[in-house]
Amino acid sequence: MSDKDSAKKHSGKSTQLSFSEPTKTDLEKRQFLITSASVMSAAGAAVAASPFVGSMLPSERAKAAGAPVKVDISGIPEGEIKTVKWRGKPVWIIHRTDEMTADLAKHNDQLSDPDCDVEQQPIYCKNADRSIKPNIGVVVGLCTHLGCSPTPKLKEGGDMGESWDGGFFCPCHGSKFDLSGRVYKGSPAPTNLVVPPHQYLDEMTLLIGVDEKGEA
Ligand code: FES
Repeated sequence: MSDKDSAKKHSGKSTQLSFSEPTKTDLEKRQFLITSASVMSAAGAAVAASPFVGSMLPSERAKAAGAPVKVDISGIPEGEIKTVKWRGKPVWIIHRTDEMTADLAKHNDQLSDPDCDVEQQPIYCKNADRSIKPNIGVVVGLCTHLGCSPTPKLKEGGDMGESWDGGFFCPCHGSKFDLSGRVYKGSPAPTNLVVPPHQYLDEMTLLIGVDEKGEA
């Protein structure tokens, strides 16, 4: 059979496939599609991952809630307190008069833990007035019984009775604390009030929440 006959025999009903070389435009289109698909898939992965990444980072609000609090104590009159918030808790800054500070030593026999043996204060406040500076007390204003906030009864006597030297009274179940936050015997509160870590940035500025050693 000649080549001509053979060509005739294979022509007719059989399908002829033809592959033409891709043009430059085809190649550019293909590259564009590949690049677009890669970008879309990377963006999708980033969006899918973002809630998890976000949940790992502490929110600004959470960070602020645990942050130390700077307090100007210059405006607290003698014999008064100022209340600030730290970690969502009230913290009292008590500006005791000299007489109030001197009176702290007078009722030790009536207190459950007069020498502050239970660790409710940093070591630098384990002293007669539970303070860095004798006349400035810093105490978390939450009762150590069930967490109510006691009422300041700063002045002697009054509705607390003649023997009252000034302090704090928790109306929930009747716990009593002196002006350094030490608990009176017979109170349901088991321990003294907490003294938070703190330091002085200057004469009249307190930083509550972290001490000079950086301990919080
Ligand atoms: S919570 Fe203060 S006495 Fe119970």
